[in-house]
Amino acid sequence: MRRVIIAGNWKMNKTIPEAIELVSGLKRGVADITNIDIVVIPPYTALSEISDMLVETNIDVGAQDVYWEEKGAFTGQVAPSMLKDAGVKYVVIGHSERRQYFGETNETVNKKLKAALNAGLSPIMCVGERLEEREGGKAFDVIKDHVENGLAGFSKDDAQKIVIAYEPVWAIGTGKTATPQQAEEVHKYIRELLAKMYNESVASEIRIQYGGSVKPENINDLINQQNIDGALVGGASLKVEQFIPIVKESAKKGA
Ligand code: 13P
Repeated sequence: MRRVIIAGNWKMNKTIPEAIELVSGLKRGVADITNIDIVVIPPYTALSEISDMLVETNIDVGAQDVYWEEKGAFTGQVAPSMLKDAGVKYVVIGHSERRQYFGETNETVNKKLKAALNAGLSPIMCVGERLEEREGGKAFDVIKDHVENGLAGFSKDDAQKIVIAYEPVWAIGTGKTATPQQAEEVHKYIRELLAKMYNESVASEIRIQYGGSVKPENINDLINQQNIDGALVGGASLKVEQFIPIVKESAKKGA
Protein backbone atom coordinates (compact mmCIF):
# COMPACT_ATOMS: atom_id res chain seq x y z
CA MET A 1 0.00 0.00 0.00
CA ARG A 2 1.51 3.32 -1.06
CA ARG A 3 1.34 6.10 1.51
CA VAL A 4 -0.29 9.27 0.14
CA ILE A 5 2.05 12.29 -0.02
CA ILE A 6 0.83 15.88 -0.30
CA ALA A 7 3.55 18.48 -0.77
CA GLY A 8 3.31 22.25 -1.10
CA ASN A 9 5.92 23.76 -3.42
CA TRP A 10 6.04 27.41 -2.48
CA LYS A 11 8.38 28.30 -5.35
CA MET A 12 9.87 31.83 -4.98
CA ASN A 13 7.34 33.05 -2.43
CA LYS A 14 7.23 33.97 1.28
CA THR A 15 9.58 35.92 3.50
CA ILE A 16 10.58 34.26 6.77
CA PRO A 17 7.79 35.98 8.79
CA GLU A 18 5.24 35.03 6.12
CA ALA A 19 6.51 31.46 6.10
CA ILE A 20 6.17 31.22 9.87
CA GLU A 21 2.62 32.53 9.71
CA LEU A 22 1.61 30.04 7.04
CA VAL A 23 3.17 27.08 8.82
CA SER A 24 1.65 28.04 12.19
CA GLY A 25 -1.80 27.88 10.64
CA LEU A 26 -1.03 24.68 8.80
CA LYS A 27 0.32 22.96 11.93
CA ARG A 28 -2.91 23.69 13.77
CA GLY A 29 -5.12 22.77 10.83
CA VAL A 30 -3.64 19.34 10.11
CA ALA A 31 -2.43 18.32 13.59
CA ASP A 32 -4.67 15.27 13.71
CA ILE A 33 -3.69 13.86 10.30
CA THR A 34 -1.09 11.12 10.64
CA ASN A 35 -2.04 8.64 7.91
CA ILE A 36 -0.43 10.53 5.02
CA ASP A 37 2.86 12.38 4.46
CA ILE A 38 2.53 16.16 4.53
CA VAL A 39 5.43 18.26 3.22
CA VAL A 40 6.10 21.99 2.92
CA ILE A 41 8.74 23.16 0.45
CA PRO A 42 9.75 26.75 1.28
CA PRO A 43 12.50 28.77 -0.41
CA TYR A 44 16.05 28.10 0.90
CA THR A 45 16.02 31.22 3.08
CA ALA A 46 13.19 29.90 5.28
CA LEU A 47 14.22 26.23 5.48
CA SER A 48 16.07 26.28 8.77
CA GLU A 49 13.46 28.36 10.57
CA ILE A 50 10.58 26.23 9.29
CA SER A 51 12.37 22.94 10.07
CA ASP A 52 12.85 24.11 13.67
CA MET A 53 9.12 24.85 13.89
CA LEU A 54 8.22 21.41 12.59
CA VAL A 55 10.51 19.18 14.68
CA GLU A 56 8.49 16.21 15.95
CA THR A 57 5.33 17.16 14.09
CA ASN A 58 3.46 15.36 11.32
CA ILE A 59 4.79 17.80 8.70
CA ASP A 60 8.11 17.34 6.88
CA VAL A 61 10.22 19.91 5.10
CA GLY A 62 11.50 19.81 1.52
CA ALA A 63 13.81 21.97 -0.59
CA GLN A 64 13.16 23.09 -4.17
CA ASP A 65 16.51 22.07 -5.65
CA VAL A 66 20.01 20.86 -4.72
CA TYR A 67 23.46 20.70 -6.31
CA TRP A 68 25.36 17.46 -6.85
CA GLU A 69 28.74 18.51 -5.42
CA GLU A 70 29.44 18.31 -1.71
CA LYS A 71 31.36 21.56 -1.33
CA GLY A 72 33.63 24.00 -3.09
CA ALA A 73 33.69 26.92 -5.49
CA PHE A 74 30.12 26.72 -6.81
CA THR A 75 28.74 30.16 -6.03
CA GLY A 76 25.02 30.15 -5.40
CA GLN A 77 24.63 26.39 -5.08
CA VAL A 78 23.50 24.38 -2.06
CA ALA A 79 24.87 20.92 -1.23
CA PRO A 80 22.80 17.91 -0.11
CA SER A 81 24.53 17.86 3.30
CA MET A 82 23.60 21.52 3.79
CA LEU A 83 19.96 20.66 3.25
CA LYS A 84 20.25 17.84 5.79
CA ASP A 85 21.87 20.29 8.16
CA ALA A 86 18.86 22.62 7.74
CA GLY A 87 16.47 19.81 8.74
CA VAL A 88 15.30 18.96 5.23
CA LYS A 89 13.94 15.51 4.34
CA TYR A 90 12.64 15.85 0.74
CA VAL A 91 14.09 17.64 -2.27
CA VAL A 92 12.37 18.51 -5.55
CA ILE A 93 14.58 17.75 -8.54
CA GLY A 94 13.95 18.59 -12.20
CA HIS A 95 10.93 20.84 -11.77
CA SER A 96 9.75 22.04 -15.19
CA GLU A 97 10.52 25.64 -14.23
CA ARG A 98 14.14 24.62 -13.64
CA ARG A 99 14.20 22.70 -16.93
CA GLN A 100 12.67 25.70 -18.75
CA TYR A 101 14.52 28.67 -17.19
CA PHE A 102 17.70 27.28 -15.64
CA GLY A 103 19.02 24.73 -18.10
CA GLU A 104 18.13 21.62 -16.09
CA THR A 105 18.48 18.47 -18.22
CA ASN A 106 17.92 14.77 -17.64
CA GLU A 107 21.69 14.50 -17.03
CA THR A 108 21.72 17.14 -14.29
CA VAL A 109 18.55 15.65 -12.82
CA ASN A 110 20.25 12.25 -12.70
CA LYS A 111 23.34 13.66 -10.94
CA LYS A 112 21.23 15.55 -8.42
CA LEU A 113 19.12 12.47 -7.68
CA LYS A 114 22.27 10.44 -6.99
CA ALA A 115 23.74 13.10 -4.73
CA ALA A 116 20.46 13.50 -2.85
CA LEU A 117 20.11 9.76 -2.25
CA ASN A 118 23.73 9.51 -1.11
CA ALA A 119 23.01 12.16 1.50
CA GLY A 120 19.89 10.33 2.69
CA LEU A 121 17.43 12.85 1.25
CA SER A 122 14.15 11.72 -0.35
CA PRO A 123 14.00 13.10 -3.89
CA ILE A 124 10.83 14.14 -5.69
CA MET A 125 11.65 13.89 -9.41
CA CYS A 126 9.41 16.00 -11.65
CA VAL A 127 8.51 14.91 -15.16
CA GLY A 128 5.99 16.28 -17.62
CA GLU A 129 5.31 17.39 -21.17
CA ARG A 130 4.81 20.88 -22.58
CA LEU A 131 1.61 21.90 -24.37
CA GLU A 132 3.08 21.60 -27.88
CA GLU A 133 4.42 18.16 -27.01
CA ARG A 134 0.98 17.00 -25.87
CA GLU A 135 -0.68 18.50 -28.90
CA GLY A 136 1.91 16.86 -31.15
CA GLY A 137 1.11 13.45 -29.67
CA LYS A 138 4.50 13.31 -27.93
CA ALA A 139 3.43 13.30 -24.26
CA PHE A 140 4.33 9.68 -23.60
CA ASP A 141 7.68 9.97 -25.42
CA VAL A 142 8.63 12.94 -23.24
CA ILE A 143 7.61 11.16 -20.04
CA LYS A 144 9.58 8.08 -21.06
CA ASP A 145 12.64 10.22 -21.79
CA HIS A 146 12.38 12.01 -18.41
CA VAL A 147 11.82 8.83 -16.40
CA GLU A 148 14.36 6.55 -18.12
CA ASN A 149 17.15 9.10 -18.31
CA GLY A 150 16.43 10.70 -14.94
CA LEU A 151 16.68 7.30 -13.28
CA ALA A 152 19.57 5.99 -15.42
CA GLY A 153 21.87 3.74 -13.44
CA PHE A 154 19.66 3.45 -10.36
CA SER A 155 19.28 0.14 -8.58
CA LYS A 156 15.86 -1.15 -7.55
CA ASP A 157 16.56 -0.09 -3.99
CA ASP A 158 17.42 3.46 -5.01
CA ALA A 159 14.49 3.77 -7.41
CA GLN A 160 12.10 2.79 -4.63
CA LYS A 161 13.25 5.74 -2.55
CA ILE A 162 12.27 8.27 -5.21
CA VAL A 163 8.88 9.95 -5.47
CA ILE A 164 7.89 10.89 -9.03
CA ALA A 165 5.75 13.96 -9.67
CA TYR A 166 3.90 14.09 -12.97
CA GLU A 167 3.39 17.77 -13.73
CA PRO A 168 2.11 18.54 -17.22
CA VAL A 169 3.68 21.93 -17.96
CA TRP A 170 0.47 23.20 -19.57
CA ALA A 171 -1.38 22.68 -16.27
CA ILE A 172 1.09 24.53 -14.02
CA GLY A 173 -0.16 27.88 -12.78
CA THR A 174 -2.66 28.06 -15.62
CA GLY A 175 -5.80 26.97 -13.79
CA LYS A 176 -6.05 24.20 -16.42
CA THR A 177 -5.88 20.91 -14.55
CA ALA A 178 -5.39 17.68 -16.40
CA THR A 179 -8.65 15.77 -16.12
CA PRO A 180 -8.43 12.92 -13.61
CA GLN A 181 -8.55 10.54 -16.58
CA GLN A 182 -5.72 12.32 -18.41
CA ALA A 183 -3.59 12.29 -15.26
CA GLU A 184 -4.39 8.65 -14.45
CA GLU A 185 -3.49 7.63 -18.00
CA VAL A 186 0.01 9.08 -17.60
CA HIS A 187 0.46 7.77 -14.04
CA LYS A 188 -0.47 4.30 -15.22
CA TYR A 189 1.97 4.66 -18.11
CA ILE A 190 4.76 5.67 -15.70
CA ARG A 191 4.03 2.68 -13.46
CA GLU A 192 4.11 0.30 -16.42
CA LEU A 193 7.38 1.84 -17.53
CA LEU A 194 8.85 1.36 -14.04
CA ALA A 195 7.72 -2.27 -14.11
CA LYS A 196 9.68 -2.74 -17.34
CA MET A 197 12.74 -0.93 -15.98
CA TYR A 198 12.70 -2.75 -12.63
CA ASN A 199 9.87 -5.16 -11.85
CA GLU A 200 6.20 -5.15 -10.86
CA SER A 201 6.87 -5.08 -7.16
CA VAL A 202 9.22 -2.07 -7.37
CA ALA A 203 6.76 -0.28 -9.66
CA SER A 204 3.92 -0.89 -7.24
CA GLU A 205 5.90 0.70 -4.39
CA ILE A 206 6.94 3.94 -6.10
CA ARG A 207 4.72 6.90 -5.29
CA ILE A 208 3.58 9.10 -8.17
CA GLN A 209 2.17 12.53 -7.36
CA TYR A 210 0.16 14.73 -9.70
CA GLY A 211 0.92 18.46 -9.97
CA GLY A 212 -0.65 21.30 -11.93
CA SER A 213 -3.43 23.59 -10.68
CA VAL A 214 -4.43 21.28 -7.82
CA LYS A 215 -7.14 22.98 -5.75
CA PRO A 216 -9.60 22.01 -2.99
CA GLU A 217 -12.23 21.69 -5.75
CA ASN A 218 -10.39 19.10 -7.84
CA ILE A 219 -8.26 17.14 -5.35
CA ASN A 220 -10.96 14.62 -4.61
CA ASP A 221 -11.34 13.39 -8.20
CA LEU A 222 -7.58 13.33 -8.72
CA ILE A 223 -6.59 11.54 -5.52
CA ASN A 224 -9.18 8.85 -6.05
CA GLN A 225 -7.51 7.64 -9.23
CA GLN A 226 -5.81 4.31 -8.74
CA ASN A 227 -2.30 5.40 -9.68
CA ILE A 228 -2.34 8.89 -8.17
CA ASP A 229 -0.60 8.75 -4.81
CA GLY A 230 -0.58 12.39 -3.88
CA ALA A 231 -0.16 15.92 -5.14
CA LEU A 232 2.58 18.48 -5.61
CA VAL A 233 0.69 21.71 -5.04
CA GLY A 234 1.93 25.15 -6.12
CA GLY A 235 -0.31 28.20 -5.80
CA ALA A 236 -2.85 26.59 -3.48
CA SER A 237 -0.13 25.65 -0.98
CA LEU A 238 0.50 29.34 -0.25
CA LYS A 239 -2.85 29.73 1.48
CA VAL A 240 -3.82 27.70 4.54
CA GLU A 241 -7.48 27.92 3.67
CA GLN A 242 -6.70 26.07 0.43
CA PHE A 243 -3.88 23.74 1.47
CA ILE A 244 -5.62 22.38 4.59
CA PRO A 245 -8.71 21.13 2.68
CA ILE A 246 -6.41 19.52 0.09
CA VAL A 247 -4.56 17.66 2.85
CA LYS A 248 -7.79 16.64 4.60
CA GLU A 249 -9.43 15.41 1.44
CA SER A 250 -6.35 13.37 0.56
CA ALA A 251 -6.22 11.83 4.03
CA LYS A 252 -9.52 10.11 3.22
CA LYS A 253 -7.67 8.03 0.63
CA GLY A 254 -4.86 7.37 3.08
CA ALA A 255 -7.30 6.03 5.66
P1 13P B 1 0.35 25.15 -9.47
O1 13P B 1 -0.35 24.29 -8.44
O2 13P B 1 0.44 26.59 -9.06
O3 13P B 1 -0.22 24.95 -10.85
O4 13P B 1 1.88 24.65 -9.53
C1 13P B 1 2.14 23.30 -9.66
C2 13P B 1 3.59 23.06 -9.47
O5 13P B 1 4.41 23.43 -10.29
C3 13P B 1 4.03 22.40 -8.23
O6 13P B 1 5.37 22.05 -8.27
